[in-house]
Order: sequence, then structure tokens, then C-alpha cells
Amino acid sequence: MLDEIISFLEQEKELYGSFSTETEEEGSQTESATMPNPSEDETETTLPSSSESQKTGSTPSVEKKTHQRVELSLDEQLKACSTLQELEQFCAESEQLQTDLDGTNLVFGVGNPGADLMIVGEAPGFNEDQQGEPFVGAAGQLLNKILIAIEFDRDDVYIANILKHRPPDNRNPTAEERERSLPFLERQIDLISPKVILCVGKVSGTTLLGKDDALKRMRGQFYDYRGAKLTVTYHPAALLRNPKWKRPVWEDVQQVRTLYDKLGGKP
Ligand code: URA
Repeated sequence: MLDEIISFLEQEKELYGSFSTETEEEGSQTESATMPNPSEDETETTLPSSSESQKTGSTPSVEKKTHQRVELSLDEQLKACSTLQELEQFCAESEQLQTDLDGTNLVFGVGNPGADLMIVGEAPGFNEDQQGEPFVGAAGQLLNKILIAIEFDRDDVYIANILKHRPPDNRNPTAEERERSLPFLERQIDLISPKVILCVGKVSGTTLLGKDDALKRMRGQFYDYRGAKLTVTYHPAALLRNPKWKRPVWEDVQQVRTLYDKLGGKP
């Protein structure tokens, strides 16, 4: 065994010369000062084959190839999405946006990518999941009517949800799901850069404002949010169940229209 080790070392010495402790240490010190952390980097040292060095008779050189394995944070990956199309593709590939309902479709968002008014709902329901588009069911029909009442077409605005996949049985999105989805929506908002954001429903308002409050206390005022003015009103689905919220919604959306015009929103 010892003989084998000695013979192996002698072969190595013949091929690569004798080891100098000093050079080796200096080399590794320089390397550690200039090379990225090995855990972030994969450095492959390629040695020429012995037959090659025998052919040329030269001292074999050591060629180093560095394969950088760059691990980007979620934030960096989101920032790297410079268009809504790129972000949509990233969302489609992201497991982080999934709910525990298998086989749902991505419901990314719909509308004018340069919209000055953005509507943010809660999460896709059955119809939205089927069609891959937010607010296409009964609540969506009512939302369209509300928009028309303040002289917007559905196509003028941009509509998205806090969650991009449907939760099972249309349950409320969990706090954990909302937290996981928020950075994707924030990037979407930054890319659209609306002047005014209308959150419909408590889930939407509390998630974007980062505070747990009653809807009646959140509504009726505008908040500064990522360069936009944000307000909250009742969800159209709640309105379908309880018409007593028609009046406050009407007041809220009129305020949205007034501020939109004042801020020079595109007609
Ligand atoms: N409710 C929502 O909050 N969003 C939809 O897309 C549909 C219903």
C-alpha cells in the first residue's frame, strides 16, 4: 500500500514538478483574496493529460476555468423582469405563487399595461382560473359596470389580484400565501406605474397597506403607495351579497375618478 502511494506521488512529481509549500500558500492566499467564495462559485481545475505533456515535452500548465453559479435573490430576479411579459413568464414558472389547489392556471392580470388606474382584487375564483383572467365571473361583471359608471372601459385600466392562483373552494388567501405573492404583485405595479390604485376588498387593502384594519376604516382616504395614490373600497362580490354597500362604493369610485383626472390620468 505504502509502495503504491510513493509510486503515485513520484508519478505526480514527474508530471507536475515538486511541491513548494511557500508558493502553494502564497497562491492560495492570493486566490482567496481575489476569488469569490467557493460556496458561491465552482472552480474547476483542468490538468492537461500526461500524454499531452509527454508529446510536447513542456512543463504542463494549469488551466483554470471558473463556472460562476450565480444565485440571484427573488428580489433580483423580479427586478430582472423588465417587461410584463417577462414577469408573467417568471410567475408561470414560480412555485412560490402556487396555492394548495393542484392544476390551477396562472391568472396574471389583464388590461392596459400603461394604465393610470389599477384595480387590485383578492384571488381568482373558478371562472377566472378557467379563463386565466381576473374578474370574469359575476363580481367581474359588476366591476365592469362600476368602471363604466365612472367612465372607464375595462380595457383602459389594469386588473390584477393579490394571489395569482385560485385557492381551493374559493377560501380566503392565507396570510402566508399573500406574503409569498406580494413581491410579484409589487413588481407588476412598478412596471405598470399607475397613478391611482383601487383595492377592492379587505384582503387587497390590508395586504398592500400592510396593516390589518376594518374596511370601513381604510376606505374614504388615499394613501401613498409605490409612487401611486391608493384607496380601498368594498369588493363587488360583497356588494352582490349586500346592496347596503352600494352607496359607499359609489362615493369611493367617484373620488377615484376625481383624483385620477386631477393627477392627469390618461383620458
Ligand atoms: N374576486 C377577486 O378578488 N378576483 C377575481 O379575479 C375574481 C373574483
